[in-house]
Amino acid sequence: MQVPVPTPEPVAPDALLVEVAWEVCNQVGGIYTVIRSKVPATVQVWDERYCLLGPYFAHQAQGEFEPYDDYQLAKLSDPFAGAVLEMRKRGYDVCMGIWLVTGRPRVVLINPFQVYPSLGQIKSDLWHHHHIPLPDNDDLLHQVVAFGELAKVFLQILAAEVVPPQRVITHFHEWMTGVAIPALRREQVPVHVVFTTHATLLGRYLAMNDPNFYDHLMQVDWQAEARHFNIEPAVTMERAAAHGSHVFTTVSELTVRECIYLLDRIPDAVLPNGLNIERFVALHEFQNLHQQYKSKIHEFVMAHFFQSYSFDLDKTLYLFTSGRYEYHNKGFDLTLEALARLNYRLQQSGLEGNVVMFFITKRPFHSINPQVLQSRAVLEEVQATCEAIEQQVGERLFYAAAASTDHRLPDLGSMVDDYWKLRYRRLLQTWKTSNLPPVITHNLVDDAQDDILNFLRRSNLVNNQHDRVKIVYHPDFVAPTSPLFGMEYGQFVRGCHLGIFPSYYEPWGYTPLECVARGVPAITSDLSGFGDYVMQTVPNHEDKGIFVVQRQEKSFDEAAEELTDMLWNFVQLNRRERIMQRNNVESSAELFDWKNLRVHYDRAYELALERS
Ligand code: G6P
Ligand code: GLC
Repeated sequence: MQVPVPTPEPVAPDALLVEVAWEVCNQVGGIYTVIRSKVPATVQVWDERYCLLGPYFAHQAQGEFEPYDDYQLAKLSDPFAGAVLEMRKRGYDVCMGIWLVTGRPRVVLINPFQVYPSLGQIKSDLWHHHHIPLPDNDDLLHQVVAFGELAKVFLQILAAEVVPPQRVITHFHEWMTGVAIPALRREQVPVHVVFTTHATLLGRYLAMNDPNFYDHLMQVDWQAEARHFNIEPAVTMERAAAHGSHVFTTVSELTVRECIYLLDRIPDAVLPNGLNIERFVALHEFQNLHQQYKSKIHEFVMAHFFQSYSFDLDKTLYLFTSGRYEYHNKGFDLTLEALARLNYRLQQSGLEGNVVMFFITKRPFHSINPQVLQSRAVLEEVQATCEAIEQQVGERLFYAAAASTDHRLPDLGSMVDDYWKLRYRRLLQTWKTSNLPPVITHNLVDDAQDDILNFLRRSNLVNNQHDRVKIVYHPDFVAPTSPLFGMEYGQFVRGCHLGIFPSYYEPWGYTPLECVARGVPAITSDLSGFGDYVMQTVPNHEDKGIFVVQRQEKSFDEAAEELTDMLWNFVQLNRRERIMQRNNVESSAELFDWKNLRVHYDRAYELALERS
C-alpha cells in the first residue's frame, strides 16, 4: 500500500521557525536522528523561514558544518543572518552556515565557552529567578547554561529587533536547550515557545533502578528522587522548560504519563518520531543489499566460529539487538532469557539450522580479543591461499583441456604445487582449535561484573557446538573502521534477518524503526514509544513484520515466553516466506516517513502561535 502523502501547506506563512537542539551538528544520541532526518521534510515547508540553532564544538562541527564567510553572510538578506551580524557587532562569537546533511538547512552555532567569565552571574540569576540550583564543577551543566544564555541573546535580537512584525516560533528539544525558556519568558522576549522532552530524566533513572517503576510512578516525590540520584539541577531545568513553554510536547504516549507524574504538566501534544525514508526505484534492490551484506557477516562468522567447528551458513539466521548499554531498560535481560529458551526448543525440535545473535552496544574495553583478531587474520590468509591455488589450477586446467585427447577431466589435485598444498595444510592446522568460540569479541574492563556475560555463564549459553543459538557480544559500535565487521551500522542491519528490541523503558526507540526502514523485520515492546505507536496506528502490524512484545501488566516470565514464541515462529519461516515478509516490512516503512509525521509538528506550531 502506498500511503498518500499530503501536499504540504505552509504553516503560518508569516512566521519564522528556529529549532534549537544540543545535537545540531553534534551527534550524541537519538535526538540527532530526530533533527537530522526531519530536515528534508521541514525544509520542504518552511524553506527560507527555517533555521537550526545549537552549540558550537569545533571538533564535532568540523565534519558536517560549512560556515558562511563574512562576505556571504553580509550578502544574505535574511533575518537569521541579520541577527548573527548584530550579535557579532556586540562582540559575540557566533557563526552561521550550512549543515552538510540531506536538505542542507541553515544553522547558527554559538560557542558556549565565550560567556564563561560571567558564568557566576548566569548561575546566580538562574537560582534567584527560577530556583535552578547549579553545582560548582559540572562541565556539562556549565556548557548547557552558557549556551542557554547565548541562545536567549540570539532570539532576543532576532524576535524583538530584526523581524517584527514577523513572528518567531522557537522549538526547544530536551532540557539541555530548554534551560533558555524560563529567562525568555521572564524577559518577555516575543517568541512562541514549543518544548519537546524526549524522555524524562528522572524517569530514565528510576526505570533503571526500580523493577516496578510503572507501578510506583504515581507516588514519586520528584525532588527527593532527583536529589537521591544527584540530578536535581537538570531535573529542575526540565521542569522549568516544561512549565515555561507555550506548548509542551513529548514523543510518545508512554512519556506523557511520565510527564504528568514527574514534571507535573500534561503535554499538549505527542510528536512521534519518523525517519527520512528513501526507497529504491528498483523494488528489489534492498533484497539484493540484504544478500550482499549478509555475505559480509558470513565472513565474520566463519572467522569467529569455524576455527572451532563449522555449520551451514545457508541455514543460519542473523538476529541482533543494539543500543545504549542499559541491561534492563533495553530489554537485554528479556532477550537473553528468550534466546536461552529458544536454544532449548531448537535442540529438542530436530529442526535444522542455527541462529547467531549479535549484541551491539558500547562498554569500556581494553582491546579486541587478540584471539578473535588472529583468527580473522589467519582466515584471510586461508582465503588468499585458496585464491592462489584456484589461479594455478585454472591456468593448468585450461592448458590441459586444450591439449586433451581423451576429453576427460584430469585430476585437479595433481595440478597444485606441493608448496601450496603444504601451505594450505599448515594454515588450517594452525587455525583450527578445540577452544570454544568466544561469546565476546573484546576484553572488557569489567568482565566479572558484566550482566550480559554473567547471564551467558549462568545459563551455559557459551557457544558450545551443540548450542543452536550462538552469541556474539560486540561491546562497540559497528563501523567501517572496525577490523571485525568493517561496515556501516546500516549495512550490518541490512545483512541481518531480525532485530530484537523488547525494551522495558524507551520513550521512543529508533532501533526497530531503523530496521523497518531497511526492510528488516523487528521486535519491539509495548513499553517503547515506537511499539505503543505501532499498536495504535498500524493495523495488522505482525503481517508487516513488526512484532510487539506485551510487557505492560505482564511478568518477566510471561513476556519472555511471548518473545520466545515470536523467535520460534520466525526461525520456522522458509526463505521464500522471509523474502515476502521483508517486502511487506519495507513497504510499510513509508508510514513512518517524516512527510507523513511532520503534521504533528506543524499543529504544535499553530497552537503556539494561537496561545501566546
Ligand atoms: C534476498 C536476495 C535473494 C536471497 C535472499 C536470502 O532476497 O535477493 O537472492 O536468496 O535474500 O534470504 P535469507 O532470508 O535467506 O537471507
Ligand atoms: C531519547 C529517548 C529515545 C528516543 C530519542 C529520540 O534518547 O530515550 O527513546 O528515541 O530520545 O526521541
